[in-house]
Amino acid sequence: MIGNVSTVQLNKIIKKASKLIGKGKVADYIPALAKVNGNQIGIAVCDLKGNIASAGDARTNFSIQSISKLFTLTQALQVYEDSLWKRVDREPSGQRFNSLMLLDVEAGIPRNPLINAGALLVCDMLESRFSAPNFQLVEMLRNLSSNKHIKVNTEVARSELEHSSRNASMAYLMKSHNNFNNRVDTVLESYCHHCAIEMSCEDLAKASLYLANKGVSLQGQKILSQIQSKRVNALLATCGLYDAAGDFAFRVGLPGKSGVGGGIIAIYPGHFSVCVWSPELNEAGNSNAGTYALQLLTEELGLSIF
Ligand code: DON
Repeated sequence: MIGNVSTVQLNKIIKKASKLIGKGKVADYIPALAKVNGNQIGIAVCDLKGNIASAGDARTNFSIQSISKLFTLTQALQVYEDSLWKRVDREPSGQRFNSLMLLDVEAGIPRNPLINAGALLVCDMLESRFSAPNFQLVEMLRNLSSNKHIKVNTEVARSELEHSSRNASMAYLMKSHNNFNNRVDTVLESYCHHCAIEMSCEDLAKASLYLANKGVSLQGQKILSQIQSKRVNALLATCGLYDAAGDFAFRVGLPGKSGVGGGIIAIYPGHFSVCVWSPELNEAGNSNAGTYALQLLTEELGLSIF
C-alpha cells in the first residue's frame, strides 16, 4: 500500500487499461522501435519515502525517448538557472512534438524545452558546458533510480540517428537564427543517445520523484530548488504531452511527460510519482493504454492537481 494506492488497485487498472491494446500503433518512424511487442503494459507508483507499488510489466526496460527531455531540462536548470529562458520559451506549442512550423517565424526560439526543438536546444546548451553529456545523463538517471544497470540501447540510438532529418532541420534552423552554438551532428548524437536510454516503470517512477518532493530526490539530494521544481511541473502540465496536453490535463489531471517508446511519467506533487508504459501510441504520439491507465488511477483515487 502506498498512500491510498494498493497493488490490488494497480492490477485492476492494468487489467482494464490493457483492453485498449490493439487499438493504438507502436512507433515506427524510428525503425528499431517498431520491433517492440505492443502487447505489454506496466505501472509503478513511488511515494516520497521510496516505497514502490507496481503491476504488470513494471520491471521491463523500454526506450525512454522524450521522457529524457525532462531530465536534460533539469540538468540545464542546474547549470544555467534562469538564463536558460533567454533561449527557449515556456508556452505550449499546440503542434506535434516534431513540428517545424513555429520555429522559423519565432526566430529560432523553441516554444518550450519539452518538444523536440526545445530539447535539441537544451542539448546544445549542455554540450557547451558538459564534458560528456551522454554519460552524464546516464549517470544522473542511475543515481536517481538507484539502478547502476541503466544504459543506452545503441541500436536504437543508431537507428534514430539514421532517421533524424527532421531533428537536424530544427537544429539547422535554430543555427540560422544564431540560437545554436555547437555542431549539429555532435548535438544530434547526444540527443539520440538520451532518447535511447532504457529504463523500467519502477526506475522512472523513482527517478522522477524529486518533482513530487519539492526538488529533493529519493536519495535526499537537492536536484532542483522548490521554485524550479514547481516550474518544471508547470511545464509538464502545459507542454509535457505536446498537442494533447489539454486532453491529458482533462483526463488525468496531473503534470506528465510522455515518450514515443510508450512511457509516461506523471507527478502528484507532495504525494507520489508514477510511470506507466504500454508501447502502442495514439494519434498524438502518446501511449494509448498508458494514458487510460493514468486516467483510471486518478479517477478511482479521486486525486488531481486541479
Ligand atoms: O526525436 C524523436 O522524434 C524521438 N527520439 C523522441 C520523440 C518522442 O518521444 C515524442 N514523444 N511522445
